[in-house]
Amino acid sequence: MSDIEAIRDKYLEQIDAAADGDALETIRLAALGKKGEISLLLKTLGQMSPDERQEQGPKINGARQAVADALTSRKEAMETAALDAKLATEKLDLTLPAPSAPKGSIHPVSQVMDELAEIFADLGFSVATGPEIEDDWHNFTALNIPDTHPARAMHDTFYFPQTDDSGMPKLLRTHTSPVQIRTMMDVARQTGGAGEPIYLIAPGRTYRSDSDATHTPMFHQVEGLVIDKGIHMGHLKWTLETFVRAFFERDDIELRLRPSYFPFTEPSAEVDVGFSVEKGRRIIGGDSRSNEGGWMEILGSGMVHPNVIRNCGLDPDVWQGFAFGCGIDRLAMLKYGMDDLRAFFDGDLRWADHYGFDALDVPTLSGGVGA
Ligand code: DAH
Repeated sequence: MSDIEAIRDKYLEQIDAAADGDALETIRLAALGKKGEISLLLKTLGQMSPDERQEQGPKINGARQAVADALTSRKEAMETAALDAKLATEKLDLTLPAPSAPKGSIHPVSQVMDELAEIFADLGFSVATGPEIEDDWHNFTALNIPDTHPARAMHDTFYFPQTDDSGMPKLLRTHTSPVQIRTMMDVARQTGGAGEPIYLIAPGRTYRSDSDATHTPMFHQVEGLVIDKGIHMGHLKWTLETFVRAFFERDDIELRLRPSYFPFTEPSAEVDVGFSVEKGRRIIGGDSRSNEGGWMEILGSGMVHPNVIRNCGLDPDVWQGFAFGCGIDRLAMLKYGMDDLRAFFDGDLRWADHYGFDALDVPTLSGGVGA
């Protein structure tokens, strides 16, 4: 056996005996690395005579090839063995429950908007929306709040530098009442001033420059509007009573209408609901005349002012109606027992997980009314 064959066999034996990939790499470097034994032999070919080279060349190259092949097949064998060993020890138990996917929840405000839409849909009301960037006419003037009216100052309005067509600054709507105006004007336009019945609620975002535990600069209101013939305050009271009892899911909720003032209604009433105390907590409903019971204001309402109906292009001698406006965030707080309004809009997922609702399996209305 020539020297070269002895060298080749030495490496083939080592490769056979190698325990792992690291050992193989050490052998590869010793044989075929830059300064490897076989690599150095290959370099000697250059100094040989042609005859010698013809004899030695194939031998050395053959040895190099044999060692390289052995390294490759040994490496593959090791990998296959490792995979087999892994497969033998790892078992996939298909009967185990799948890990649960992270799941979002419905924000209480969206949930309440859905509940409102459902309750009022049963009473024949549809859901209307309007823009959050409003102009002076829809937010104030058409609602019988002219330029000089003190009620404007009460609204802490956010104004934009841009003005509308009449030169008045645009603003973020301070209430949902402009949706009343937009709807009545649309109806007047579509019917050539003749008018037709309107039964709507308009939930959505509203804005005022105000911030503490019970006020955030952005908050939610729901507006209600009924326009029809022969509408009176009895309809208003029945509708609100039916709504409040359905919303708080109790039949023993009393309503109290207190005379009040809004420029867009006449007469106007603030509406209180009776509460009692159960287990140290205030509950809407029950005996409001009991020891710790009492009244809590929940919304403003009234008969739509004739000026407002006229401003929208309808005849107040033909059409009458009632309207109401209610804070949605407060409704959610009262129903679901949250006490800090600011947490509603902090975006803390722990709060959302705790107070949020499971999405229903059926499509909800919140996508349509924009929480
Ligand atoms: N727009 C009023 C506010 O933001 C709430 C309101 C009161 C709305 C009486 C009405 C209403 O439609 O009739 O404070």
